[in-house]
Amino acid sequence: MNQQRNGHDRVAVVTGASQGIGQAFAVRLAETGRRVVLADITDTSETEKLARHAGAEVLSVHTDVSDEQSVAHLRRQVEGTFGGTDILVNNAGTAAVQAFEDTTLEQWRRMMAINLDSMFLTCQAFLPGMRERGWGRVVNMSSNTLDLHLPWGGAHYIASKGGIVGLTRALASEYGPFGITVNAIAPGLVRRAAVRRRHELACRGTAHQASRAAGRPRRDTLVPGIGRRGVHDCSDAHRRRRDRPVAHRQSRRCPGPARPDRRGADR
Ligand SMILES: NC(=O)c1ccc[n+]([C@@H]2O[C@H](COP(=O)([O-])OP(=O)(O)OC[C@H]3O[C@@H](n4cnc5c(N)ncnc54)[C@H](O)[C@@H]3O)[C@@H](O)[C@H]2O)c1
Repeated sequence: MNQQRNGHDRVAVVTGASQGIGQAFAVRLAETGRRVVLADITDTSETEKLARHAGAEVLSVHTDVSDEQSVAHLRRQVEGTFGGTDILVNNAGTAAVQAFEDTTLEQWRRMMAINLDSMFLTCQAFLPGMRERGWGRVVNMSSNTLDLHLPWGGAHYIASKGGIVGLTRALASEYGPFGITVNAIAPGLVRRAAVRRRHELACRGTAHQASRAAGRPRRDTLVPGIGRRGVHDCSDAHRRRRDRPVAHRQSRRCPGPARPDRRGADR
């Protein structure tokens, strides 16, 4: 339990692994020889099938990442089966497009609980073991919305993703000396069915001014591509840079900060 494992024995916990980006991470980690733990509040059987097909040992644990007891259960299951974790992909999250004034405190807290408290809980659960073994990789899923002009709202989502960047930077500094890298990835819009629906809803009612200002997603970003790029952050090759302890990377396809559309606003 205490000794270091090499690249191919490593155990990776992926939260929110039943679909989307989390599934892509889990499958890619499985393809590159890691043992994978799928932690999700919904059924992970599809991901489990794909990861086993890639030849990996797989453990699925029904987990609510916003719940302390549930994350403690996840840790016990991982320790009981694999003796600990080396790689943590904090991917589980939720999103909502909503005007700030319509957002209740309950909705704000729920967003923070799933997107941000979850990372506090999983990092507290798994970082001590990584520190003991002197090696660890943590990847936290933020979002490029931090840098966009989004007139249709979603402040609670964006604030939670900003919190993730702060948490990531703090942990990267604190745990870097122990051989642990902590990074955040900030993907642009990854077009999946749920995202397409949200985008269409957001554009409806706020007129095309909103979508012009924020930039329409022009191309489908391939979800497996995010998995491939993100998994580099979990590898031995990925080292902590002294001058910049944490990378807050944006996916290459993000539209970049958009300026308010003056012509639209004047009309
Ligand atoms: N899709 C995008 O355009 C996009 C862009 C930027 C950032 N992100 C972020 O990437 C991550 C994954 O996004 P996605 O598009 O694949 O989302 P998704 O909705 O397809 O998947 C999210 C997963 O998280 C799980 N989940 C939700 N609440 C949970 C909880 N309390 N406990 C455990 N699991 C829970 C869901 O069951 C689901 O499997 C999220 O954090 C999201 O905010 C996505």
